[in-house]
Amino acid sequence: MRTFPPYRAQVVAEIPVTTRAEREEALAEAGYNAFNLPASKISIDLLTDSGTGAVSTTQEAAAAGADRSYAGSASFYRFRDALTDLTGYPHILPVHQGRAAERVLFSSVLEPGRISVSNTHFDTTRANVELLGAEALDLPCAEFGDLDSLEPFKGNIDLDALERVLTSGRVGQVLLTITNNGGGGQPVSMANLAAAAKLARAHGVPVFLDAARFAENAWLVIQREEGYRDKTPREVAQEAFSLVDGSVASLKKDGISPMGAFIGLTDPEIAQRCETNLIATEGFRTYGGLGAHDLDRVAKGVQEVLDPHYLAARADEAARLAQLAGDGGVDIVQPPGIHALYLNAGRLLPHLPAARFPGHALACELYLEGGIRCVELGSLYLGTLDEHNELVTPAPFELVRMALPRRVYTQGHYDYVAEILGDIAKNPERVPGYRIIDAPKILRHFNLRMAPAR
Ligand code: F0G
Repeated sequence: MRTFPPYRAQVVAEIPVTTRAEREEALAEAGYNAFNLPASKISIDLLTDSGTGAVSTTQEAAAAGADRSYAGSASFYRFRDALTDLTGYPHILPVHQGRAAERVLFSSVLEPGRISVSNTHFDTTRANVELLGAEALDLPCAEFGDLDSLEPFKGNIDLDALERVLTSGRVGQVLLTITNNGGGGQPVSMANLAAAAKLARAHGVPVFLDAARFAENAWLVIQREEGYRDKTPREVAQEAFSLVDGSVASLKKDGISPMGAFIGLTDPEIAQRCETNLIATEGFRTYGGLGAHDLDRVAKGVQEVLDPHYLAARADEAARLAQLAGDGGVDIVQPPGIHALYLNAGRLLPHLPAARFPGHALACELYLEGGIRCVELGSLYLGTLDEHNELVTPAPFELVRMALPRRVYTQGHYDYVAEILGDIAKNPERVPGYRIIDAPKILRHFNLRMAPAR
């Protein structure tokens, strides 16, 4: 099928254009940490696909008509109806963003000493489990470990390992992340979802989705899984939601909203506990810490995101960038997903040992060469350090995530990104490694300061 993005720009934002000298100065001032860079010094921002999507005229019209009543606002009912229609859950709570939804749900189902099992917990998800004194256990499938494998569902959970841990009697919840952001943005098959849910139920354990990218997972199921080719993205997403006991989702991704999340539940008792917690910590049950305009943007966004023309064009955009990167000599985690490409920096920069952080080095080089911002997912983020901030245990892979904001950049922008990548790949040995100058103990990747190690 030939595709084109089924929208056009009607309002645009200017992109800063900087010189190499300005970028060198800005990065040094930022302690070589892209999280410290002012956005005014960035040309192409691929740091995240969260809250960065372009809103539609339909969303903005709805936002203009938002009802800011404290209790029972019309915006809430539009939000609730859109999500009930999509998920089938009788209990829908708005929350300001995904991590708050996680905190509220997990504190209603987990206790100290219990285990949360996932294909891969996203980092805030893991933190919210651990803050409750529970254990976050990732059980990705075996194919996940082979970056080049073309297996279609490398986001799946390992069902045998799941069954073994369920028999321990300590599991408090099973949480399936679709698509698996921490695991290379790979999708989870419907067969895997159904089997995991069945196992959890057989052991009396609640099973939830972290459904931040529910539409993109549905699209990849349609493309890759037997028996789904003729279904619509909405039908597949509805089926996924129906297989489990409830979901949390950041709506800053597939809700195409600057802010927002929801908790959806089938169980009235868990819903009641969540509601009490929500009112005490986030906001009343009909706004949950969200502005009314974002309730309305979400109500439209969750419909727009399921348009098959939009999803086809977005998937093609990611696949094309993956192809161009490969042609230019940069391998990515295969097969390409949709919301991000994960560059194999370890392979591109073999002259840099893990202790010199090749992923971080590639991310810095993308900024210095092209004003492009993205984020390391390697030993800087996942490795362990000693008290002198030297790397002790490296991460299994040295990756860089290039997240693709929804409806924001055009092919022209991505061609430019591929050209910069190609330029770097022509002389990779020129890319210097980095050492840590200062790293806080918690959430270090947001706050650390680095320097080139020449
Ligand atoms: N779950 C997943 C799978 C996520 O990717 C994120 C956020 C969250 C939960 C938390 O949601 O940001 O609304 O609080 N991911 C962003 C990212 C930050 O860049 O991947 P949030």
